[in-house]
Amino acid sequence: MKVSLTGIKPSGTVHIGNYLGAIVPAIEMTQRYERSLYFIADEHALTTVEDPAKLHAQIFDLAATWLACGLDPRRTLFYRQSSIPEVFELAWILGCIAPKGLLDRAHAYKAAVAAGEPINVGIYTYPVLMAADIILFDTTVVPVGRDQKQHVEIARDLAEKFNRLYGRVLVPPEPEINEEVMTIPGLDGRKMSKSYDNVIPLWAQPAERRKLVMRIKTNSQPPEEPKDPEGSEIFQLYRLFASPEQAAAMSCRYAAGIGWADAKVALAEVMEERLAPLRARYEALRADETALERTLAEGAGRARTIACATMARVRAAVGIASPA
Ligand code: TRP
Repeated sequence: MKVSLTGIKPSGTVHIGNYLGAIVPAIEMTQRYERSLYFIADEHALTTVEDPAKLHAQIFDLAATWLACGLDPRRTLFYRQSSIPEVFELAWILGCIAPKGLLDRAHAYKAAVAAGEPINVGIYTYPVLMAADIILFDTTVVPVGRDQKQHVEIARDLAEKFNRLYGRVLVPPEPEINEEVMTIPGLDGRKMSKSYDNVIPLWAQPAERRKLVMRIKTNSQPPEEPKDPEGSEIFQLYRLFASPEQAAAMSCRYAAGIGWADAKVALAEVMEERLAPLRARYEALRADETALERTLAEGAGRARTIACATMARVRAAVGIASPA
């Protein structure tokens, strides 16, 4: 069976770059797999977030965001990592076969060390918990960005090592890097990213979003001068939100000469057209944490059925199952 699994860390404001570059492609992918799992990696977030109110809010922001963007909790398994106790037992068992050198070589860990960040044991064993997230559900494919590819390879290494030691019990996963997913330009032309402080928050109110769009960097071409749409970040963003007809019409306006201010106003409008209904859905979902929790708990219940079956195999394989 083809099983895909996506882990999402609740790490703050979701922006347009996350929406176009990660959320939309991830939700579309649901069609391609017999089973797809999406979970909020709330326990992973504890390696860096120490503010309980903030973490709580970010978990529910994220759940409401994915549902508002179209994730269907009946056709997928959508849950919180913290609701699956089996993950933590499997992480321990995998940790017992993980060579220390393998974790020493993890890029994310090495980068944190190089940056002089305080290193807790959670950061160090992060890849083992992530391996458990993946392996617990017999995942075959993990769609990830480049930064997470090595972590999936570590999960694969651990599954293979387990199988060499204990027989063919676990399914070794593959990372899948979607090369087609484009980089979304931010306000300064670099990739839209929180670390560059150049983002447009996905759920910004229209006035705030418009203000940010007006700040997008442009060159000094005068308004009437013909412009190359392909070379313009404003047009690139416009096309991503517009219908093909709207994009074609806008392309002609660029060629005829459009002022940057008008181009930005048009971009803000097309964004609002597409995002207004989603934002309304988001706000309604976000207003009811109890309902969100119920949705996530239902997903967790179904996920645990699979998790328990895997753990029965794992426990028997390593010799800690109870006698029949
Ligand atoms: N480490 C991932 C990130 O930072 C989140 C994550 C946790 C994850 N567990 C996972 C992703 C399992 C894929 C599979 O984005």
